Amino acid sequence: MTTETDTSLELDDIQAAALMPRPNPYAGAYLALRIDDRHAGRELIGRLIPLLEPVSSFDPDRPVSLGVGLSFAGLEAIGVPAESLATFPSEFQQGMAARAAYLGDVGESAPENWEKPLGSKDVHLVVAALARDTSLMENLVRLAQDAVRNRSGITPIWTLDVHVPPDGREQFGFKDSISEPAVEGTGILGSNPHEAPLKAGEFVLGYQDETGDVAPVPQPEVLGRNGTYVAFRKLHQRVAAFREYLGQNAADDAEQEWLAAKFVGRWPSGAPLALAADKDDPELGADPARNNAFMYGDDPRGLKCPVGAHARRMNARDAVITGQVRLHRMIRRGTNYGPSLPPGVLDDDGADRGLMFAFVGAHLARQFEFVQQQWVNDGKFIGAPAERDPLIGVQDGGEFTIPRRPIRRRLRGLPDFVVNRGGEYCFMPGLRALRWLADLDT
Ligand code: HEM
Repeated sequence: MTTETDTSLELDDIQAAALMPRPNPYAGAYLALRIDDRHAGRELIGRLIPLLEPVSSFDPDRPVSLGVGLSFAGLEAIGVPAESLATFPSEFQQGMAARAAYLGDVGESAPENWEKPLGSKDVHLVVAALARDTSLMENLVRLAQDAVRNRSGITPIWTLDVHVPPDGREQFGFKDSISEPAVEGTGILGSNPHEAPLKAGEFVLGYQDETGDVAPVPQPEVLGRNGTYVAFRKLHQRVAAFREYLGQNAADDAEQEWLAAKFVGRWPSGAPLALAADKDDPELGADPARNNAFMYGDDPRGLKCPVGAHARRMNARDAVITGQVRLHRMIRRGTNYGPSLPPGVLDDDGADRGLMFAFVGAHLARQFEFVQQQWVNDGKFIGAPAERDPLIGVQDGGEFTIPRRPIRRRLRGLPDFVVNRGGEYCFMPGLRALRWLADLDT
């Protein structure tokens, strides 16, 4: 570790897709490629570079945009020298599948049950392509196809269409992607005025982070600097099971909505329980100036928002927990995939639907893996060792406590509402690093 500080972020080198907010609504696609020939892989990267935007020239009105990342196997496949590969953190070198037990990817979420080829060493290069609306998707698909067409040595091996609907709601019916951290030096305003911006080194390699240090950067410097990591996961959502569980544990629709809001920490409109404890407030939910302007300090027992609610677990803000919240923050990119289950339907129609989750951060172990292990699949940090995240945790018939006066409500026998269908860790290099990769001559 070095204590050298460099606060002038090189915004002209960082991929906009890593840091910048996405349009809303939008459609997009994830595309995974296998590189069979290192020269073809380098040539492809060279052709993708002009299609990428740096943060400095980010234009929110740009109709289509791309982000590019490589897995560890991908860096090997294009011939990054062994001495350089060895400088990447071990969890990235191992890849997401090898970290399964640690991440809670067990049972149905275990890698042997993942959608092929996710979790295999064939996922080398991942392109995330976004368009402001579905009609522009055609352009985008053409763009991506042109980049790989007739390229011997490159094989498209997996793709997933994703979208964010105009109401911004994920498949369980809750507005998502509201709360994102502010990042020092980027000019991106955070959504919570009560949270001080996080040091850039939490999200970009080569800069001071919240520990006061600059973490080791993968070498050579030109490769590591201005890069970041992405952990993507195809999370299947059991919407019918979610509705059924609520129905079994609530007397009427209003109580079902109340229970679900206690699971999430927000009402369907996005209004936070911390500011709207008793009922949904759609105006508040729709107001970006207010819908994330809160802390939990005035609600230590969780009478408004349960301490175990998904959003409160994922960012306890100023609440007292074991550990430090600011060391485990993340930028999130969640997008729906698959058809939505029409309102009121309680039977599973067998369709694959869910959330394509993407974490962005400079520290896979301290941020993503820690959160999965301690905050999603454990409850010791909030003094509830028997409980897990009620929305996304591996339950095994778990419990969830809703603090209430005069007596708390305890739900039991929670099923798993979310199953991981597969994912991978990718390194998202800066633009100069991509040029370095394209020009490799090993
Ligand atoms: C299918 C899976 C998931 C669903 C349906 C889901 C849903 C939601 C919803 C509705 C919110 C509230 C909206 C907001 O604050 O932006 C939220 C917040 C959040 N979720 Fe998830 N989520 C899922 C998976 C995950 C995973 C895997 C992680 C991390 C490992 C995660 C981390 C977060 C974080 C950090 C927040 C923001 C908390 C805050 O700052 O207040 N979520 N999620």
